[in-house]
Amino acid sequence: MKKHVVLLPGDGIGKEVINSAKDVLNAIAEEFNHEFSFETHEIGGAAIDQYGTPLPESTVEACGRADAVLLGAVGGPKWDNNPSHLRPERGLLGIRKALDLYANLRPIKGFKNLLHASPLKEEVVKGSDLLIVRELTGGLYFGTPSERRDNGQSVVDTLAYSRKEIERIVDRGFQAAQQRRGHLTSVDKANVLESSKLWREVVEEKKSQYPDVSVDHVLVDAAAMKLITNPTQFDVIVTENLFGDILSDEASVLTGSLGMLPSASLREDGVGLYEPVHGSAPDIAGKGIANPVAMILSTALMLRYSFQMENEGKLIEDAVQSVLDAGFHTADLQIENGSLVGTAEMTKHIVDFIKSQN
Ligand code: NAI
Ligand code: MG
Repeated sequence: MKKHVVLLPGDGIGKEVINSAKDVLNAIAEEFNHEFSFETHEIGGAAIDQYGTPLPESTVEACGRADAVLLGAVGGPKWDNNPSHLRPERGLLGIRKALDLYANLRPIKGFKNLLHASPLKEEVVKGSDLLIVRELTGGLYFGTPSERRDNGQSVVDTLAYSRKEIERIVDRGFQAAQQRRGHLTSVDKANVLESSKLWREVVEEKKSQYPDVSVDHVLVDAAAMKLITNPTQFDVIVTENLFGDILSDEASVLTGSLGMLPSASLREDGVGLYEPVHGSAPDIAGKGIANPVAMILSTALMLRYSFQMENEGKLIEDAVQSVLDAGFHTADLQIENGSLVGTAEMTKHIVDFIKSQN
């Protein structure tokens, strides 16, 4: 299969881990006779420096032509005091909106062999394996008006959703649950918010289309508590933008390592943007020690969700587990009697495993 991939390295360790993704994809192409072509563009701080905007038109155009996009991370102290239209994360919000990436999927699952790194008790988090499906292009982050009023003395943000927007993300949630353990938890605040009442109505209406999925509704405050007291009760969580943003960051502590968590952001036709959950990690940028696994697992999600390459995605995930089993790890992880390696070496072990199969 021939696929065109746009690479957006962004800033900090984004520039380092994106190379790992490319190496892994080249190995997959070789093993499975695929052809991946690449095109690299700027976003975030790097784009501000070069073009005076966090999201140049040339980047949007290239992404629009791509079969999928891989993004490293954006941001850093250099741009922290910029006015809001010149902030790196504007680039990220902009590209999500431009590509209509309405569904953000974050699988959260522990890896064997890693020493317990979560601040939570091992007996609580052990065996947790969940997927958060977050609505990404609506709700509070995009609703208008959003402005200061009365000379700055009052302020308004708007939480708006259309039925259609809710339906497509809820469908995603149900479909994801069908492919997993068949349970969907819809998270809302239906005791207070009108938007949540419509959300809950839609979930109730859709239930009959997915008879193989069991459903429950949990209020967001209770969900926040259950995620860290009883995470194994969850399979798929579907929720609106702001709730999903908060819950997915909270859930990331279950595995205890940001460097291991991938994410996918999808459009209805299957085009997607894939990126690690972590940021640009300015504290370790340029040192060659960043963990490339979150980026590499994001690449596996791309193969699976955008290219329907299930076996190829699975091989990457097996390669990661196998390299951890062999004791190799970057500085953010701990393995008993393990071997500490940098970004390039960790990537090479994963690539070597891929090439040794088939
Ligand atoms: P961060 O995720 O960049 O770093 C948090 C901590 O985790 C740091 O100590 C870092 O060294 C470590 N870490 C993260 N990824 C790692 C990896 N792959 N390997 C080893 N260690 C890793 O979050 P932080 O420090 O809050 O933000 C730094 C910058 O990144 C900020 O400018 C922020 O706005 C931006 N950011 C960007 C995101 C994105 O592009 N999607 C997401 C989160 C933050
Ligand atoms: Mg966040």
